[in-house]
Amino acid sequence: MGTGYTEAQLRAAVADAVRAPSLHNTQPWRFRLRDGGIEVSVDPTRRLPATDPSGWGTRISGGAALFNLRLSLAVAGTPATVRLRPYPADPDVLARLVPDLPRRPTPTEQSLYAAIGRRFSNRAPFWPDPVPADARWRLGEAARAEQCWLELVIGVSAVNAFAEVARSAHRVLERDPAYRAERADWVRTEPAPDGVPARAGGPQTEPQDLLPSRGFGGLDRAPGRDFEPEPLVAVLGAAGNTVVDQVLAGQALQRVLLTATDAGLAVSLLSQPIEVSGAREALRLSLGRFGTPQMVMRIGYGQPGVATPRRSVDEVLDVAVAPG
Ligand SMILES: Cc1cc2nc3c(=O)[nH]c(=O)nc-3n(C[C@H](O)[C@H](O)[C@H](O)COP(=O)(O)O)c2cc1C
Repeated sequence: MGTGYTEAQLRAAVADAVRAPSLHNTQPWRFRLRDGGIEVSVDPTRRLPATDPSGWGTRISGGAALFNLRLSLAVAGTPATVRLRPYPADPDVLARLVPDLPRRPTPTEQSLYAAIGRRFSNRAPFWPDPVPADARWRLGEAARAEQCWLELVIGVSAVNAFAEVARSAHRVLERDPAYRAERADWVRTEPAPDGVPARAGGPQTEPQDLLPSRGFGGLDRAPGRDFEPEPLVAVLGAAGNTVVDQVLAGQALQRVLLTATDAGLAVSLLSQPIEVSGAREALRLSLGRFGTPQMVMRIGYGQPGVATPRRSVDEVLDVAVAPG
């Protein structure tokens, strides 16, 4: 065991952690060094009250950042032992990481780490090429390695049934003016360190679209550039829906996303059917699975794009209060 992480190690790992996805790119996370351990917390001031009343999205996002943090520390040769929800009285602290025995990173850790900077949400139409079987298998393995499951929605009728559930969840959400106002608040038309840049928001929605898009963008749609008719839809789930389950799901989400990036695949996230409880239950029943769906992904081969901005490391670090 090492004696503890240093501030330099914390800063280097947090620079990677913040590349994680988050609801509306709110980046609802904070990091600090305490007694040689790194603590990852949600930032309750950056929760979206209308879109995310339960805080589910902050914990998925925090879990995804935690996965990057673990990976970064491992690749630097200082892997961590992680305790989730270390303080029962303080559920905002999602994890505490202390140094484990130093070791070389594994090839998987290295390739997933290399994918951190290349990953981005690709909301544009994908090419019609199918995702090969070995890549599908790798994505499922990535979820299982983080104690979660990934169910692929296979076949036209299953995809259509899923799309029906997703569209009805979308309609329920869109009826709430507070939800719509929150989304508008987080779309950025000028350079900004958070929020969804309009250029990343995907094309205008059209009536023939199978899956609902969250509506960040409104980029003009090139004629004939429709979405793929039979998208690969994957549902990520956890054993349950406790805070710990959600943090596990966030880590699994990031592992699946980095595995996809490493395999040359593009992904967009689709969480409306998770955010509406009736839709989430319908989804769970349609999959015939125990446990709780935590995220939906559309996976395929996409055009190149660019990563979205993040706040600086200084803005997400808490400086520990000196004892005494
Ligand atoms: C919990 C959660 C839910 C999300 N839901 C959606 C969604 O419904 N639609 C969407 O287009 N993007 C969704 N996203 C993606 C975020 O908008 C995206 O991660 C963020 O804007 C940062 O961009 P990046 O993924 O390109 O880094 C979600 C992300 C998280 C973590």
